[in-house]
Amino acid sequence: MSESIYTDYLIIGSGVAGLRAAIEVGKKGKVLVVTKDLPTESSTEYAQGGIAVALSDEDEIGIHFEDTIKAGDGLCNEEAVKILVSEGPERIIELINWGAEFDKEGSKLAFTLEAAHSRKRVLHAHGDSTGREIERVLINKVSTLENVKKASFTMAIDLIVEEGKCIGALLLKEKEIIKCFSKATILATGGAGQVYSRTTNPKVCTGDGMAMAFRVGAYLKDMEFIQFHPTALYAPGIPAFLLSEAMRGEGARLKNIYGEEFMKNYHPLGELAPRDIVSRAIISEMVRTNSTHVYLDMRHLDENFLKNRFPTIYSTCLRFSFDITKQPIPVSPAAHFIMGGVETDIDGRTNIKGLFAAGEVACTGVHGANRLASNSLLEGLVYGYRAAHGAVEYVEGERFDKISSYDFKFETKISHIEQSEIIKMREELRQIMWEKVGVIRCGESLGIAKDKILSTYEKIAEKFFINPLAIELKNMTTVGLLITEAALSRKNSVGAHYRTDYKEKLPGWEKHLRIRKTNAGFEIF
Ligand code: FAD
Ligand code: SIN
Repeated sequence: MSESIYTDYLIIGSGVAGLRAAIEVGKKGKVLVVTKDLPTESSTEYAQGGIAVALSDEDEIGIHFEDTIKAGDGLCNEEAVKILVSEGPERIIELINWGAEFDKEGSKLAFTLEAAHSRKRVLHAHGDSTGREIERVLINKVSTLENVKKASFTMAIDLIVEEGKCIGALLLKEKEIIKCFSKATILATGGAGQVYSRTTNPKVCTGDGMAMAFRVGAYLKDMEFIQFHPTALYAPGIPAFLLSEAMRGEGARLKNIYGEEFMKNYHPLGELAPRDIVSRAIISEMVRTNSTHVYLDMRHLDENFLKNRFPTIYSTCLRFSFDITKQPIPVSPAAHFIMGGVETDIDGRTNIKGLFAAGEVACTGVHGANRLASNSLLEGLVYGYRAAHGAVEYVEGERFDKISSYDFKFETKISHIEQSEIIKMREELRQIMWEKVGVIRCGESLGIAKDKILSTYEKIAEKFFINPLAIELKNMTTVGLLITEAALSRKNSVGAHYRTDYKEKLPGWEKHLRIRKTNAGFEIF
């Protein structure tokens, strides 16, 4: 037997997008924010470089717009970008008024440069802990709101959809299944970096929201566009810890294993070329020199400056026996961000009534084929806020007087897989995604990945699990398959999607690919 609970708004995920949405919907009704781990465990918490916003004296909203469009390589939704850059300043000022302490130079906010930004426009906090500061402020703000309840270690398993309307989700808490009924549900589950063996993303980023939405018929869009961050720490047995792009913004240089600088051979902007170009240049250089990594060299920068500007990176690298002030640091690309996700309009609406999405799980088209650095924390604030307003408008326009009498017959058989088998399947998936669906792809590699992932998908996709690792495996397999299918279907190279068998933007490249579930499997349209 499972317990039933009722709320006006259910928010799944407590990163920047979920928390910002909660603050808004909390003004209108009862809110439950569920999160599958500690409340802070999210990509938001680990975000380093900063948050982009056109607030400096030398900057303009129009220039931030142009830089975002350029990085997106022709596939941005211009309306969504306009909203991001023009509503961004208001969302940041609000955050500062709630207590966010961004770094300053004298009495003025300090802005740094990151790749493909033509102005210094990236705000940062405590040097390289920008995400932690934003998460802290949002959690504090949410804690003051009586209407908003938080449930940690509570995992969403599946969305409940009846007669085409999302009316909540099945949750898992300490092996108990809870039926949570809500008038509107906002997915804010973040990204899916964990489908790759080499990733900067924390363990919670397993694509759950995308897979849950797909299972109930939501459209997913632009799934082939995965951003690989150029500079994650590379050393056997050590996690792919991020070395922020802001380090290159402050002058750090990339060098190959012979100590030669190489970025100018690939792009006139050198180290500050768009992220997809830098990642591919690093891979080319690794292949050319037959090495597993390149180096990020900061030794020419002042030691105290480095320690103060990048305190978390300095101390974390030191923990792994690398001193950024004294030696070049081995780095190579790692999966970092997914530009695609659950398709939404500019108010977070999906094609399923009552289901909204915001943040990395969503695809408004704001990032196109390649995200401009430091635009995603801003996306979480701007689109978390907007999805909340979309959800309020929906709830206020519908009749919900009988929500407490909602029911959902839940009689699914619970399946079981041995823990060792789950771990094995998970690692195989992550490895094949990295090797065959990575920075550089081709029809052959994608075909091999598809066959392998499909065979796992067919074994587990229709099963119902209550073991969190098995639930994640099912979701990761679904998302891995959808990324691979989309990458196979896009027979051209755009932004972060690069195929050696179709190296150019060939006719038809402007078309976005959407995927939806069908009775026969799925359809790309
Ligand atoms: P997250 O912050 O990832 O939050 C997702 C939430 O959903 C978590 O609380 C998670 O536990 C929960 N969740 C997931 N699945 C379930 C489930 N089934 N049930 C319940 N809860 C669930 N972007 C920038 O703009 N600037 C940066 O400097 C920057 N640096 C980064 C550094 C790192 C190391 C990483 C990994 C990312 C960085 N990014 C940066 C990207 C940015 O941090 C993310 O895109 C953004 O924080 C995503 O916010 P979100 O709210 O959508 O998701
Ligand atoms: C970084 O600090 O390099 C990450 C910035 C981002 O992902 O936007």
